[in-house]
Amino acid sequence: MPLAIICSGGDAPGMNPAIKKFVDYVYEKGETPYFIYNGLEGLIDGDIDVATHKDVAGIVHRGGAIIRSSRSKRFYEYEYRKIAYENLKKSGITGLVVLGGDGSFRAMDKLSEEFELNFVGIPTTIDNDIYGTDTCIGVDTALNVIRDALDKIRDTASTFSRAFVVEVMGRECGYLAAVSAITSGAEICIIPEADFNRSVAQEHLKREIEEGRSYILCIVSEGTRMTNEIAQWLEKEIGMETRITVLGHIQRGGSPTVNDRMLAFEFTVRAVDHLLQSHNSNKVMVIENGRYGMKEIEEVVEHRYRIDPELLGMLNRLD
Ligand code: F6P
Repeated sequence: MPLAIICSGGDAPGMNPAIKKFVDYVYEKGETPYFIYNGLEGLIDGDIDVATHKDVAGIVHRGGAIIRSSRSKRFYEYEYRKIAYENLKKSGITGLVVLGGDGSFRAMDKLSEEFELNFVGIPTTIDNDIYGTDTCIGVDTALNVIRDALDKIRDTASTFSRAFVVEVMGRECGYLAAVSAITSGAEICIIPEADFNRSVAQEHLKREIEEGRSYILCIVSEGTRMTNEIAQWLEKEIGMETRITVLGHIQRGGSPTVNDRMLAFEFTVRAVDHLLQSHNSNKVMVIENGRYGMKEIEEVVEHRYRIDPELLGMLNRLD
């Protein structure tokens, strides 16, 4: 049974360990692994080839994805999805592992409504915005990149008595911001999922400054689009010289952490085992309360990820 792996959408650290495990494990099972290069764009273009052990030698510690990824606009059109499906058939691929996030799973859901497929999606996104799974490949590495940056920013902020507004990634989801704010002890965290009471915070911060507070660390989630506004507020209303740092795409890079490598291995082995036994599977791997499982893709894409209220409860409350 020829099985293929594809990366789709934003890359995340941990894709390479998943790719390596996929190739090694499929061979171990006596089957042939294939790569689909360049994401869904590559699937449309028929960029498909047999994978070898040599292709995946020495990649486990590398961020990014050796088979590349893409955000495909063409895949929104039926005629290209049909070509993509036909390319899978032509290559004789009977099962597909899809490393991707919400957008990629929507694309696969659409494709599976139109054509008979056998695939397993593996949640791979630093945003951690996939319904039904506690975490995704890439999240832990991104959190550690942010932690490292925040530890450094605190050094300079405290030396200069400044406020720092640090923007972290998360298209619509404040998970990275919330966990980073909690674990770095930031004074302020602005995320799409929670209201921020500016007047209460203002009163609180001013009182603390009078009592000797010399710097402020504020984490803003990209999805709020409030970075500049909050910086102006800190400078004008709170009265502290303020700088902005947008961490940007460094959060998507770097050597995957042990947790992300293990998650990649666990998800991939289970996905391959499942595909070898199924003919028409449209599922997504998940981990919930430490237990691995699978959900139907419709269930995953039909529901919106919600940040754990207990996590929000751990944020610094300025009241
Ligand atoms: O989905 C991951 C992510 O990094 C988001 O956090 C961010 O909004 C987006 O991708 C950036 O996308 P691009 O790499 O296309 O600029």
